[in-house]
Amino acid sequence: MQRTIDLILRNRPRRLRKTPSLIDMLQETRLSIKGLIYPVFVCGGRDVKEPIASMPGQYRLSIDVLLKELEEIRDLGIPSILLFGIPDRKDSFGSEAYDDNGIVQNAVRAIKENLPDVVVITDVCLCAYTDHGHCGLVKDGKILNDETLEILSKVAVSHADAGADIVAPSAMMDGQVKAIREALDHNGFKDVAIMSYSAKYASSMYGPFRDAAESSPKFGDRRGYQMNPANVREAIREVRIDIEEGADIVMVKPALSYLDVISRIRSAFDVPLAAYNVSGEYSMIKAASERGWIDEKSVVLEILTSIKRAGADLIITYFAKDVAKWLKEV
Ligand code: PBG
Ligand code: ZN
Repeated sequence: MQRTIDLILRNRPRRLRKTPSLIDMLQETRLSIKGLIYPVFVCGGRDVKEPIASMPGQYRLSIDVLLKELEEIRDLGIPSILLFGIPDRKDSFGSEAYDDNGIVQNAVRAIKENLPDVVVITDVCLCAYTDHGHCGLVKDGKILNDETLEILSKVAVSHADAGADIVAPSAMMDGQVKAIREALDHNGFKDVAIMSYSAKYASSMYGPFRDAAESSPKFGDRRGYQMNPANVREAIREVRIDIEEGADIVMVKPALSYLDVISRIRSAFDVPLAAYNVSGEYSMIKAASERGWIDEKSVVLEILTSIKRAGADLIITYFAKDVAKWLKEV
C-alpha cells in the first residue's frame, strides 16, 4: 500500500507508554498504605457489630469487637484510625462527649492498652452527642461560637487524657484550634497534635455518615458554620487561621469534588495535608459497583490516586482496608 503520510514528529509521548513496565516506572503518584487513615464508629455494649445500612461494609462496633478489628487493620499495615463515638445518651450540651467514661474515652484507653502502636485520632465535635444534632451549643435557634469552644476544649482534653495521639476538631467553630491548643498545653498534653478539619464544606455528601453516627441536625442545617461549597479562597483563609492557631495537620473535606481546594492548599502551605473521602463518596461507589455498573477496585484506586495527585499527604477513607489488600496484591 502506498504511504499517505510521512510525519516527522519530535515529540511522541507514546514512546513512554510502549510497555506496562515503562508505564509503571514513569508513574508520578503512588498510593501508599502508610498514608491511609481508617474511620471507625464505636458504640456501647459487647459483641456488637451492627451494619450501617447506607454504608455497605461499615459497622458500628463495640469496644471488644473494635479491638479485634484493629488487629486486622494493624496487620494490613494501616497506621491510623479516626475514631467516632456513638453515645448512649444525648443532651443539649453533648455532655457524654467530654465524660471521662464516655464511649470514645473508654475506647481510646482500651486501644492504647492493647495496641499502643495504632495512631489514634479522635473526632472532636458535639453533633453526635447533642439532642439537637448541631456541632455547637444552641440558644434561641442560634449556634453559639465562643461558649462552644469551652466544651470542645474539654472534649479534646478528655481524649488526650485517655491516650489519643491526635485530636481532630470538626465543629467549624471560629477559634477552636486556638482554644484546644491552649487547653491541651495547660493540662500537660503539649505533645498531643491537632489535625484540624480546616476546610470543611457544608456538603450533601455526609448523609450516610449522619445515619451511622445519628448526627443529623434536628432543625436547620450547618451552613452557618461549615463552608459554602462554591468557595476556594475562603478555604485558604480558614487554613491560614488554623495554622496560626496551632494546627499541626490541616484537612479538606470532602475530597473528590474539592481537588482544586486540595491543590491550592498544598501549594500555599507547607503543613501536612489530609483529605477526607467522605461517606457519600464511599456509598456512591458501593451502590454503583453492587449493580455492576462500575468496577469497584479500579474506580477506588483511580479516585484515591487522584486525591493524592492533587496534593493530599493523608487520605481518610472507608476503603482503607480494601486498598491495603489491593496494594499488597500488586
Ligand atoms: C460532623 C462530622 C461530619 C462528618 C464527620 N464529622 C459531617 C457532618 O455531619 O457535618 C462526615 C464524615 C463523612 O461523611 O464520612 N462533625
Ligand atoms: Zn459535628
